Amino acid sequence: MNVTTHPDPRQINLAVTQEELALLLNSMNHLLQLMSPKDDQSPSQAWYDAELSAAVGSRQKIAALLAETIRQKEALAQPRVKEARVYFIGAGPGAPDLITVRGAQLLATCDLVLYAGSLVPAKLLDYAPDNVEKHDTATLSLPEQIELYQQAKQAGLQVARVHSGDPAIYGATAEQMQALQALEIAYEVVPGVSSFTACAAALGAELTRPNVTQTIILTRTSGRASPVPDSENLASLAAHRASLCVFLGGNQLPGNVAELLRHYPPQTPAALVQRASQPEERRHVATLGTLLDGLKLSEWALTTMLLVSPALGSVEQLQSLSRLYDPEYAHRFRRAAKNSDTASSQDVDG
Ligand SMILES: C[S@@+](CC[C@H](N)C(=O)[O-])C[C@H]1O[C@@H](n2cnc3c(N)ncnc32)[C@H](O)[C@@H]1O
Repeated sequence: MNVTTHPDPRQINLAVTQEELALLLNSMNHLLQLMSPKDDQSPSQAWYDAELSAAVGSRQKIAALLAETIRQKEALAQPRVKEARVYFIGAGPGAPDLITVRGAQLLATCDLVLYAGSLVPAKLLDYAPDNVEKHDTATLSLPEQIELYQQAKQAGLQVARVHSGDPAIYGATAEQMQALQALEIAYEVVPGVSSFTACAAALGAELTRPNVTQTIILTRTSGRASPVPDSENLASLAAHRASLCVFLGGNQLPGNVAELLRHYPPQTPAALVQRASQPEERRHVATLGTLLDGLKLSEWALTTMLLVSPALGSVEQLQSLSRLYDPEYAHRFRRAAKNSDTASSQDVDG
């Protein structure tokens, strides 16, 4: 992984600068005058000394400028080790075209890839150059990943650290960032399309509806490696009756649904979405009370999201439209229909 970089020859500017040229002409001018004083003038020693000193001054300046130019060119010609940088890239929910343009561009130019292979489909790696090392972090401990980051620092590599969905959610990125800070390795986060929005898209649904719910709760059930604090138990979150998305709970569906039913009415719309946006995508839509009826649970154990939300009901069921596109409703960017209420609103980011 030892990589040294050489300067781009196009960065070496061989042209004489305007300043160098002006000084050169100035100096020549003085020297010419010294060599051919006008006939009608009898040059005094003082005039001669002044012209000579001006010529010498100009030439000294040229020498200094040329020396600086040479120093810069030599510095550019030295092999340099680039500064290492780690990019945490959100891969999105799985469809290769749901990564961001920035994420794909960074993958295309990176020197090393670390990716969460249990969730990031291999297709995403097609964005990276064929000849760079690619490590599936599913098989690596944190110290082993940190060792790779250290090697990258020594070799000045650009590392693409690819996480599924958005790196800010259940990606175990915080501990890596902390290690990078301790190693003084720069990092940047490139956001991604989270699976919960991909699931909403798969259901063709909006998760926030006026007067129904304007809140989305993202949560998960406790895992061996990542316990959820007691204060965030599923039943207590269910008490809000907001839109709620349960990550990482495909293998605990009966328990989770039972907890949710402690506060959501059984007729609340609910859905399971598996591998949203991928060719294997599956959806199961029902009410919370009937969600698991006849379901082969083992088929939904992996890469599944449970969504429950009163907002998943149809427009007729909910009888609630946003006023945002109401013809009578004016705001900063749109006039209201004649004779209507012209009050402006801050809610214009639809
Ligand atoms: C470790 S978390 C990663 C979440 C990711 N950072 C995100 O923003 O979507 C993995 C869980 O996310 C959910 N998930 C990830 N991709 C999914 C997809 N394509 N369809 C449905 N759920 C998905 C599942 O609940 C899965 O168990």
